[in-house]
Amino acid sequence: MTAFSTLGGKLGGPCGIQELMQELGRALSGDPDMRMLGGGNPAAIPEMQALWREQWRRLLEEEPERLDRALVNYDPPGGNPAFRRAMAAFLQRECGWSCREENVVVMPGGQAAFFDLFTLLAGHDGCKKILFPIAPEYIGYANQALHPDAFISIPGAIEELPEHTFKYHIDFDRLRAALTPEVAAICLSCPTNPTGNVVSTAELNQLRELAAARGIPLILDQAYGMPFPGAIYTEWTPVWDEHLIVSISLSKLGLPGTRTSVIVASERITSALANMNAVLALANGNLGQALLLPLLEGGGLPRAVREVIRPYYENKSRLANQVLRAALEDRAPYALHKSEGAFFLWLWLKQCPVSAEELYQRLKRRKVLVVPGHYFFFGLSAPWAHEHECLRITFSQPEAVVREGLEILADEVAVAYRE
Ligand SMILES: Cc1ncc(COP(=O)(O)O)c(C=O)c1O
Repeated sequence: MTAFSTLGGKLGGPCGIQELMQELGRALSGDPDMRMLGGGNPAAIPEMQALWREQWRRLLEEEPERLDRALVNYDPPGGNPAFRRAMAAFLQRECGWSCREENVVVMPGGQAAFFDLFTLLAGHDGCKKILFPIAPEYIGYANQALHPDAFISIPGAIEELPEHTFKYHIDFDRLRAALTPEVAAICLSCPTNPTGNVVSTAELNQLRELAAARGIPLILDQAYGMPFPGAIYTEWTPVWDEHLIVSISLSKLGLPGTRTSVIVASERITSALANMNAVLALANGNLGQALLLPLLEGGGLPRAVREVIRPYYENKSRLANQVLRAALEDRAPYALHKSEGAFFLWLWLKQCPVSAEELYQRLKRRKVLVVPGHYFFFGLSAPWAHEHECLRITFSQPEAVVREGLEILADEVAVAYRE
């Protein structure tokens, strides 16, 4: 049997994100009894599904030539020119950004975009690093480093709040100490997957200043944020300038199947990413772009974000918080991260006698799928007990599924604290 290369073994072997996607796919397609409080799948929001079906219908019945062109043609590797123009105009209009179409590059989903960005900026030789200012951070980045030392994360500073609530902040002293000349970029998701954290404007500005002073980009992953899908339940002004690299995905609008996202960045970065698209995939899939284009040109998207998506997930967040808090009562010394965006509850089980990994296994046996916290703490310089005390719980599935899952989870947690 041919042995894989070191890099091949790393990318082709099992890892957290692969297990997560495998279980998500299996639960959603083959195991109707599993309560899927795992992955980051968007909810099937009826209004959004109707909106996408209407876009399909229009393409099929009213603009068959546009559909034919989308199906029969490879786009240029940076994306469909009309889509890039429309996206730049949309961002200028809706966000007041001074970007041009050259600052917009279409990517085959945010996940692939981050792999390309990390490879572009940090490479494989270990001399350059990506700095994540708050651990925990998105599981999907964890295995994208081509060198074991390419990622550094700073443990989030915990602020304990009343009523079983907490919030992570950036520990700027530790961040400054970690900002060595090898750091090639700072990266954070906001709202953060897994915690639902939204950094304050003051924290964001400080990060921007630190990055700009060192001449390195700040990468802002807006998978759940603005300008879409807008699953953000607090104040947030979308920002961009040439020192920022902003990732915006179509997935959480309800289109993960189209595997389409955009990166907004300096032309130097967007050109390099377009070239990488050519090398890796020739071109992007263009159906997602074809579906979204009319909404970028009309006013439909901001309205859908404001009136459908945000209230939908905000209600789900409120409900999940209520159900879990009521179910846990005083049965465990827990805290939930302040839910400021995204699709997740982040549960901290303080000094839990049973690890999050073991709880995950026990819950799976009771047909509840969650994600144990340790996957989200990559790049730390020292082990942190906290990473084995947290669970990520997705609340985007139907209410009955979430409710049942949370009640079973609370039972298992209570059992764990009695051990
Ligand atoms: C924070 C974050 N970034 C990026 C992605 C990648 O999403 P996609 O590849 O579907 O655009 C996800 C997916 O859940 C995510 O949660």
